[in-house]
Order: sequence, then structure tokens, then C-alpha cells
Amino acid sequence: MTPFNETDQLILGKYYNVRCAKLRMDWSEVLYIPIIGEKHKDPQFSVEDEHYHIDGRFADLGSGYKYTVDENGKTNGIVIVGKYFETEFIEVVVRRMKCKRLTTGVKPPADAVKYWTWHDSMIGKSCKGRKCPHLGTLMVEQNGVLVCPLHNLHGSIESETIIEIPR
Ligand code: FES
Repeated sequence: MTPFNETDQLILGKYYNVRCAKLRMDWSEVLYIPIIGEKHKDPQFSVEDEHYHIDGRFADLGSGYKYTVDENGKTNGIVIVGKYFETEFIEVVVRRMKCKRLTTGVKPPADAVKYWTWHDSMIGKSCKGRKCPHLGTLMVEQNGVLVCPLHNLHGSIESETIIEIPR
């Protein structure tokens, strides 16, 4: 199964081949968490573990685990590669999943000083070709601006540069 191209325009309710992190809980339950972007670390805001981001367009709303998203597909959860508390990352697989919403991304807390210091250092950088200046992730148009689905940088469609956002 070939996973869909993450640049595609999705249609609500339609099923897609989606990359998922296969996780095993200590009590043997297996979870499949939809992921977006490539595996990376974020030492600039003290996330030293390799991780993937959750694709909130396909993820479930609150099920009691930390891999859930809000009604806009936003979350501050990530999928750590390796053993993390009660979960163990097994592998990346492709699964058929329903598109539940059209938006995804992180929800940085307003008081996350390291995050906002890094964020502000990116303002004015080029996102030409809709490529995020952080890791080259494709930015998606949402409400008239470009939004990176990984760490929430926003860009102007006209100037193709990263812009300031309210916090
Ligand atoms: S990849 Fe980090 S904000 Fe885009």
C-alpha cells in the first residue's frame, strides 16, 4: 500500500492510506497512531527524544491516551521512538484511515518560553515553495495563511515568509 502524498488536498470522510506509528502498550494492546512529517528531535525547545508528530486529520478525539487531539486536530502530544512510559514504539506501518478533519498541528502553551523564543527566531525566514524553513515540511494553507503541521510556524502566502502569530 502506498501512503498518500502529504501534500494532497484531503476530503472529509474519505479513506486514505496513512503512515501510522505502531505502538504496543505494556498490557499488550496495540495502537496505530497516524503520523505526519519525518522523525526528528527538537533540542531548541528541549525535546531530545526522536519523535514523530500526530496527524490530527486522522487521529481520534480524547480516548484517555496521550495520542488524542482536540476537535481541530491540534495536540501537544508526540510519538516518541523507543520505550516511553507504558508504550513501546514498534515500527511505521501504512493503514487505511478515515479523514476526520482538515486541520492538524501542535498546541504550544502560551508560557512555553523556549518554544516561543525559537518561534520568534524564525520570523521573517523564507518559506518559499511552501517549504517550512525549520525541517522543510510542506506548509498547508489554512484560513488564508500557510501553517506548518509540525511546530505551528505560520507563513504569509504573498511574501512566503514566516510571520508573527498571536499567543
Ligand atoms: S517543521 Fe518545525 S515548524 Fe515546520
